[in-house]
Amino acid sequence: MNSQLPIGVFDSGIGGLTIVKALNALLPNESILYFGDTAHLPYGDKSPELLQGYADTITHFLLETGVKAIVIACNTASAVALNTVKNIARDIPVFDVIQPAVKNALLISPMKRIGVIGTRTTIQSHVYLKSLLDLAPDALVIEKATPLLVPMIEEGWNHHQISIEIIEAYMSDTGFNHIDSVILGCTHYPLIRSEIQNYFDKTNTRKVEVIDSSLAIASEVQKQLTVLNLLNRNSDSVNHKFFVSDLTPGFKDTAKMFLGREVFLNKHN
Ligand code: DGL
Repeated sequence: MNSQLPIGVFDSGIGGLTIVKALNALLPNESILYFGDTAHLPYGDKSPELLQGYADTITHFLLETGVKAIVIACNTASAVALNTVKNIARDIPVFDVIQPAVKNALLISPMKRIGVIGTRTTIQSHVYLKSLLDLAPDALVIEKATPLLVPMIEEGWNHHQISIEIIEAYMSDTGFNHIDSVILGCTHYPLIRSEIQNYFDKTNTRKVEVIDSSLAIASEVQKQLTVLNLLNRNSDSVNHKFFVSDLTPGFKDTAKMFLGREVFLNKHN
């Protein structure tokens, strides 16, 4: 396999750029081929069957364009469509965002009392609960759907009085009283990581570690590509490409917010 091929990354939309940002920081020699399914977002409230169909189409697009690995940046798609992607990708390595965050949570949670927040479809799939209990049957897992957080962040209302109140309303769930870590189980939540951390620092006597799945997946990709001898050694060949299935001026602004820099979005459907 040609190690200069890009890493394919896909998401329901623009939020997966948080993962691209983490990949760029850790693996600056790697090119990214990004696909944001903006025509079908949000994924967070859709059925597994519908999302598996979208994942099928996107995986074919990535493979036909040419990638050496696929990262399912979207937690919701990772929760319900991992096998769909793996079956199509065959010998191309496929990474989901769930497993690295789960391993990280177990490593840094001394009491193994772990909170998970995400979209409704992610939480209803219980993918985090099942994965955590598979590795640590004695863990206590508290799952909570936090559907208002995605539209709030896309509206740019992070670091805002409104976000402080919404975060408080969700995190004050009594189930979270005795947790020692919380997994941010959604592409968008790294943008409110510090606000969630502040909430727990203020209210909990014990330290609550906030686990950003974008950092966890980036280091997993680095590890696996090293093992598979697929890291790109040639920094001259770096070339990122970003595709979306629907393009509006709003997506360009959101992309800049998530990636921290201007992005040229191409439309592909
Ligand atoms: N990308 C989705 C996730 O990580 C959040 C946005 C959506 O619902 O489409 O679960």
